[in-house]
Order: sequence, then structure tokens, then C-alpha cells
Amino acid sequence: MQFQWYPGHMTKAKRQMQEDIKLVDLVIELVDARIPMSSRNPDIDELGKNKARLILLNKADLADERVNQAWMAFFEKKGYFVVRMDARSKAQIKPVNSVILDACKEKIERDRRRGIKNRPVRAMVVGIPNVGKSTFINSFAGKACAKTGNKPGVTKGKQWIRLNKSVELLDTPGILWPKFEDQSVGLKLALIGSIKDEILNIDEMSLELIKYLQKDYPEALCERYGLESCEDPLKVLEGIAANRACIKKGGEPDLSKAAALVLEEFRSGTIGRITLEKPEEYDV
Ligand code: G4P
Repeated sequence: MQFQWYPGHMTKAKRQMQEDIKLVDLVIELVDARIPMSSRNPDIDELGKNKARLILLNKADLADERVNQAWMAFFEKKGYFVVRMDARSKAQIKPVNSVILDACKEKIERDRRRGIKNRPVRAMVVGIPNVGKSTFINSFAGKACAKTGNKPGVTKGKQWIRLNKSVELLDTPGILWPKFEDQSVGLKLALIGSIKDEILNIDEMSLELIKYLQKDYPEALCERYGLESCEDPLKVLEGIAANRACIKKGGEPDLSKAAALVLEEFRSGTIGRITLEKPEEYDV
């Protein structure tokens, strides 16, 4: 299966991000906890060098908790601050503020030594589409936020959301483009629903998904669909069609319907909390 990505304004977006990053102390990068590597663009490491870095493993509610922990350790070892979360949950987002301050400790300390008091740290949110950037900004900033900076239409300037006396957030997130180093990255992005389904082959995708599931989550797969074994992906799809009454008019199994069903149930977390890539595949 071929995946392609034509980000219309990629160069412009990159230039904009270079400019925006100059204004902040901290880059908050959201990744999808189900595919933390495939949902990040490593170019951000170059763009964000010399800045404090925080990775938010978002949609952690859909990912395998044991693997979430492993990914946190992986990124922490590489020098990032890391929080795992469900960006829709205000309670889970709350600790992010203190982690931001922790990540910017050196800058705060430097300011203090220079006699600068109460200067808030400035942060911006970045990530590829659909990882939850807007959800996070909305939950994190909430209603109480006051926008600071220039008024739109009066002067062209950045809008900063004053979160509290210590932190300001750039109000628009930086959009990174996915990086398709190999086809498996494209496939995993498609599986979590980050690429429009219209351009994809759902039947093929679901067979690939079943391969991942039978390798790492065979019990969840068998249990969800009442299967005795899940050795052969095509047989699994046929089993799902039979057990879920996916049947065409003539009585034939409707494999496409079963394929769409398994994909949808994976995306919604109904099959279980599943992670498609593990840190040990990336540790060198
Ligand atoms: P973006 O700005 O990075 O593009 O992402 P956005 O916030 O729009 O979030 C994309 C979808 O992901 C939204 O679903 C949002 O509710 C969901 N989402 C964000 N964070 C989390 C999380 O931590 N856990 C879960 N389970 N879902 C999360 P949506 O509006 O319903 O759209 P869609 O899912 O139908 O595309």
C-alpha cells in the first residue's frame, strides 16, 4: 500500500515555526501514545534545539498503559520532560503546569539572578495533525484564560494566552507534517485515523491491523470477536464477519464491512488499549 503526503504549505509552515520557536522558552510537543515515533516529526529536534522540551504522550487512554510507561522512560532518558495524558481530561492536564516550570527551571533561575521577577515562561504547542493540539490548548487554557499581546486587526502580533502568573502559551499550535520514512509509518498513521480514509484501502489496512494485533494482543482480538484462534489474518476477518453478522445480500460474508468494523473498534479503543510501536524497536 502506498501512502503519500502533500503538505501544501509545508515550507511556509516550517518557516513560521522557526520564527515562533524563537519567541518561546519551551516547546510542548504532542505525540499519539499509540504510535509515539510515527506520530512525530524528528525535524522538531533541530527546530527546537536550545529550547526546553516537553513531550506529551496524548491519547494515553487509548494506548497500552505498560507501554506508555516504557515510552515515558524512553523519552526521559533522551532528556525530554514527559507527561502522558488524555487531553480531554482537565484533571490529567493539571500536572502539566508544574512540569513546565520544572522544564524551564534554568531560565527561571537565570532571570532571578538578573533581578527579573515574575516574567512568565513562554511555551508553544506543536504536533502533527489530529494528535490533540487544539483539545489540549482548550483544556489547558480553559475559560479563565486572558489573552495578552496585541489585539488582532490592530497590530500584527502574537497572541499569548496567560495561563497563570508563571506561564504563557502561544494561542495557535505549530503544525508539523508527518514524516514518512518508510511505509510502515504511513500505515500506522492511517490505522490511528490520521490520514483520510477515502484515499486508503480499508480491507488491506484492517488485515495489517490484524497482523499487529495477533502479534502483540492476540487475547484481546480473540476475546473481542469470539475467535478460537487468530493465526491467519484473512480467517480472522472471516471470523469477525461471521460473528458480527457482516453478511451480503446473497449470504456471502461481507469482509469489507468486517474490515471497517475492526478498524473503527481499534480507533475507539473498544478492542482494548493498544499500542502499535514499542520503544525497544527504536533503542539503538
Ligand atoms: P489537532 O488540533 O492536533 O488536530 O487535534 P484535535 O485537538 O482536533 O483532536 C483530534 C481528535 O482527537 C478529536 O476528536 C479529539 O476529541 C480527540 N482527542 C484529543 N485528545 C484526546 C485524548 O487524549 N484521548 C482521546 N481518546 N481522544 C482525544 P473528534 O473531535 O471527535 O474528532 P475525530 O476523533 O472524530 O476526528
